[in-house]
Amino acid sequence: MCGIVGYIGTRDCVDMLVDSLARLEYRGYDSSGIAVAGPDGIQVRKAAGRLSNLRRKLADEDRPAGHAGIGHTRWATHGAPSDVNAHPQGTKDVMLVHNGIIENYREIEDFLTQKGYTFSSETDTERAACLIDWYYRSGKRDPQEALRGALGVIRGSYAFAVLFRDFPDRLYAVRCESPLVIGLGDGENFIGSDVTSFISYTKKYYLLEKDEIAEIRADGVYIRGMDGHLVEKKVQTADWDVSAAEKGGYPHFMLKEIHEQPEAVRAAISPRIRDGLPWLEGDGIDTDKLPKYRKLFFVACGTAMHAGLVAKYVIERTAGVEVTVDVASEFRYRDPLITKDDLFVAISQSGETADTLAALRLAKEKGADTVGIVNVVGSSIAREVDHVLYTYAGPEISVASTKAYMVQIAVVYLIAMELALKKGTISRSQCEAAVSHLQEMPDVISQVLEEKDTCSMIASRIMNAESLLYIGRGLDYALSMEGSLKLKEISYIHSESYAAGELKHGTISLVTEGMPVIAIATQKRIIEKTISNIKEVKARGAKVVLICAPEVEVGKDVADYVIHLPKTDDIFYPMAAAVPMQLIAYYCSALKGNDVDKPRNLAKSVTVE
Ligand code: G6P
Repeated sequence: MCGIVGYIGTRDCVDMLVDSLARLEYRGYDSSGIAVAGPDGIQVRKAAGRLSNLRRKLADEDRPAGHAGIGHTRWATHGAPSDVNAHPQGTKDVMLVHNGIIENYREIEDFLTQKGYTFSSETDTERAACLIDWYYRSGKRDPQEALRGALGVIRGSYAFAVLFRDFPDRLYAVRCESPLVIGLGDGENFIGSDVTSFISYTKKYYLLEKDEIAEIRADGVYIRGMDGHLVEKKVQTADWDVSAAEKGGYPHFMLKEIHEQPEAVRAAISPRIRDGLPWLEGDGIDTDKLPKYRKLFFVACGTAMHAGLVAKYVIERTAGVEVTVDVASEFRYRDPLITKDDLFVAISQSGETADTLAALRLAKEKGADTVGIVNVVGSSIAREVDHVLYTYAGPEISVASTKAYMVQIAVVYLIAMELALKKGTISRSQCEAAVSHLQEMPDVISQVLEEKDTCSMIASRIMNAESLLYIGRGLDYALSMEGSLKLKEISYIHSESYAAGELKHGTISLVTEGMPVIAIATQKRIIEKTISNIKEVKARGAKVVLICAPEVEVGKDVADYVIHLPKTDDIFYPMAAAVPMQLIAYYCSALKGNDVDKPRNLAKSVTVE
């Protein structure tokens, strides 16, 4: 977690750092801070809470002057969110910002204590900074050598940006597991946890690898391996621009991202359709091998895991191949029976989620082939899977994931169709028909977006509930889990999703007069059964919101509010039905006055276990 930035060049360093941090706040927002190297040494300013607190502090106190600096926005791991635990951390000679976790920080602390160091914060980061300081001061006061020495000892995940007081003309950066990129400007250069942080200044960047040390000056970037030799790096170019990372007139990124879904789906599917059929060869997938897998394992966290649940229903139904779906943090510790005959699919927007990455490594160890459905280009998961299917959704800034989920499902459909075609469970013409339905989905999503006033009205009627239920069967159940998560994470209303048929086995006892129940009924073969379950809750006083297929006739004994979706094929309804659920969650949060894009206690990219 956490976002780190660095700037060196001729512009006002403080402005540049704060501006870049603002773009990374989605990575954590418990505290923030900057350090600027100047003629009088390194100046540090930091503040607990949102970046606005730091801005205020910078306005009230004297501004550090200088042209090289580092910055940080934090999602607390070691030590509470406070001024003292905020980054940068370090000594008068060495200051650093850190994203990740140092696992052996206690050992490092013991070592440093013996050497006479004392610590002012509870952070693992301060121990790492002091270790670099120790190597620096006990050696030749050479930054590269000090970093090499410390990295030989430090275990864990980290992306560090480092300032040395004696060298105000340069920044240093290293990483292991946590993401870090170096932006390449003209007479100025940048460090960022991702490209979003500097996209308004440059689209060109280097991806830093483990065991590389980057020395970043205003007029050049020098990357060396651990043996000190310069490493030749390929310049990467971001294919999106700053408007994709700005709100574009919407009050929140979440609402903007919900509206970007039609376009995002088009971008995700169009390069993967040829002659009316799925085409995954362009992503390097050996499609002849697909039908030979014994089993598919979809592993992910949060919303991405819910996309995996849709995959299970769709693939098992269309291709007849068994699919197991796991939360990554469970998969990695449950001794999964995955073998070389299986395909492991990691789904991740960020491509950096620590548990998903660890699950991927476990699957590789066990010999499985691996595929990633990933949004962030060049991210760790994207680089470690055998083949990556990028979702091309552009940056997703809101912590609550919407468009990333939509494109993950879109890509899942293509995998399902390809697999079904190769397995022979559907004919070529059936496959063409399915592809053409998928191609219509951007328009279907646009039509559903027109229901936003209805969603806002519904939100206004349920936003004061203490608790509510989401129910559905089959694919609708998979989707109801995502609906419930969306509502919980941003509106702070407790909700649970339940298989509609399971209600009578306990949960229906929770239903009292006026309790909102959001029901989804899109799947022809079970609609009647779902409607019966809805009537059961309605009869017990529930206030029912029904999201359903257009042919469902809804009487007063079924629902209080109805959203009829446009017609589509049964398996594609999740893409349509996700939209009102996103909008209802969004409006509940916005109407309550919550910080929609940055819900409390959460972070967008979870790079710790
Ligand atoms: C966090 C985010 C969720 C996201 C999950 C997985 O919990 O708040 O929105 O679904 O991580 O993230 P990933 O980047 O792997 O999709």
